[in-house]
Amino acid sequence: MVVETAQRARSEPLLVRHARDAEAPRGGYVGCVRDDHDSVRASYDTVAGVYADHLRDELAYKPLDRALLRMVVEHAAGSRVADLGCGPGHVTGWRADQGAEAVGIDLSPAMIEVARREQPQAEFRVGDLLALPAGDEEFAAAVALYSIIHLQPDELAPAFGEMRRALAPGSLLLVAFHAGDGVQHRDEWWDRTVELDFRFLSPADVSSAVERAGFDIEARIDRPHLPREAATQRCYVLARRVR
Ligand SMILES: C[S@@+](CC[C@H](N)C(=O)[O-])C[C@H]1O[C@@H](n2cnc3c(N)ncnc32)[C@H](O)[C@@H]1O
Repeated sequence: MVVETAQRARSEPLLVRHARDAEAPRGGYVGCVRDDHDSVRASYDTVAGVYADHLRDELAYKPLDRALLRMVVEHAAGSRVADLGCGPGHVTGWRADQGAEAVGIDLSPAMIEVARREQPQAEFRVGDLLALPAGDEEFAAAVALYSIIHLQPDELAPAFGEMRRALAPGSLLLVAFHAGDGVQHRDEWWDRTVELDFRFLSPADVSSAVERAGFDIEARIDRPHLPREAATQRCYVLARRVR
């Protein structure tokens, strides 16, 4: 069932716990998983297989996404590129097939398990957008496609701050999300029980949070949904780390 809810007020402090589900440190980072992302993680663990069944081939009917991703890969010129909130890894794998050294990061261990099985040409790590399991300036480019939609409003700034930390100066960041306002709550998805809020975000608010984190906005694209997509307005923000 899908119900509209008002945005939840959120006054509790951010809770960060080190490496409960994250993996052993690689190259100097320590992955962290937030306690209060438990329901998001558990929900995506529940739907990981069916999510992959529905979306693993989506780039075949998304020429705009392919073009934007190709540009990001080209910009990285064979260096390491991140897919932040990579889900079952189909986009990460596609970029590896284009010649990038692709790394996918996701909160959900089950998603990462699917990704490792289906996209062995790429690397995958379990981790949280708010404490990326990544070294400082490790990546030459990053994308975050429909993953920031599960963050609380006050988590956008720290998430973009983490992206800036993990990106080298001059790197490109591509963020995609559902445009609008309000929250759609789901307690069922593809016949599985979940507990998920999908936030519709203002393109202006996302752009200014990205800018405040230390990026210049290079482009913004707004588009209606494709016939095979969920019926929401889509927005892409392309930014470059400048400081
Ligand atoms: C709607 S799916 C998008 C997956 C993929 N990027 C795509 O375009 O199909 C959202 C993904 O973001 C992940 N996610 C949500 N919150 C996250 C967080 N705080 N840190 C890391 N990943 C997160 C979820 O586990 C899920 O795989």
